[in-house]
Amino acid sequence: MEVVLEISKNDLEDFIELSNKLYGIDFSGYAQESLRRRVLRLMKLKSCDSFMAFKYFLTNQSISEDELLIEITVNTTEMFRDYEVFKFLGDEVFGLLETYPRINIWHAGCSTGQEPMSLAILLKEQGLLQRSVQYCTDINAEVLNHAKKGIYDLKEVKEYSTNYIKSGGALSLSDYYVANYGKVKMNKELSKNMVFTKHNLVNGSSFNQMHMIMCRNVFIYLTTEQQNKVLRLFLDSLVPKGYLVLGAKESAIFSPVLDELEVINGKLKIYRKKR
Ligand SMILES: C[S@@+](CC[C@H](N)C(=O)[O-])C[C@H]1O[C@@H](n2cnc3c(N)ncnc32)[C@H](O)[C@@H]1O
Repeated sequence: MEVVLEISKNDLEDFIELSNKLYGIDFSGYAQESLRRRVLRLMKLKSCDSFMAFKYFLTNQSISEDELLIEITVNTTEMFRDYEVFKFLGDEVFGLLETYPRINIWHAGCSTGQEPMSLAILLKEQGLLQRSVQYCTDINAEVLNHAKKGIYDLKEVKEYSTNYIKSGGALSLSDYYVANYGKVKMNKELSKNMVFTKHNLVNGSSFNQMHMIMCRNVFIYLTTEQQNKVLRLFLDSLVPKGYLVLGAKESAIFSPVLDELEVINGKLKIYRKKR
């Protein structure tokens, strides 16, 4: 008979305290419900049939910091995800970014790098890649290592082809990689100006002079209070008139920083810093 796992609010608080104490990871800014689901999932995965057993498992550091992060945070990503966003950036935003001699773009919570890679392709097609620097950050060193390699599954990449065209892609996605044994290696030129850095949005510092920040599908896992803190960090990192792009289910509309932002496209969650 399968054991039905449950954890209480106190257990969750214990988990937050233990991860902080033993691994230095602060999950206190994460939305309780998704955190609870991820903890339960991890307990099941590690065959811990009670929270006591899970505490013992954590206390013995039977899991590495990177694995704990991988299992607790959600790393799902894909190339040209929500193609309308990429199409809008190419049609309406790149023209304004073009006015800068050097274009600084921050991908906050970039996971395994498919989003910066997609943007690099579109920047290249509009002649902007050479003078763009893409800062790719994530809390998780493991996903950043994957992102640095730029190697993806061929089957997966083939599925991105339709969205690449819908995003305004001018060539064929296959022009940007070499396929071998079911894997693809993205052209080196695309990641030449990418800088990969481990950075935690919950307690990390701001970046300087960003012309655009893409932080998509990260806010959904954070509490409203934490989202507001991160929005402040983004505003401090953006140049006046710099762009902020959030995920489809995320918004800056109800945040205290709204009056410092102009809504460029409410549906696509594209904002611009006013001053
Ligand atoms: C669902 S993925 C989103 C990837 C990509 N932005 C996209 O939309 O396709 C969320 C990423 O946020 C990262 N993340 C979670 N909490 C974070 C934090 N506090 N600071 C930085 N990155 C974080 C996770 O490690 C994960 O790689």
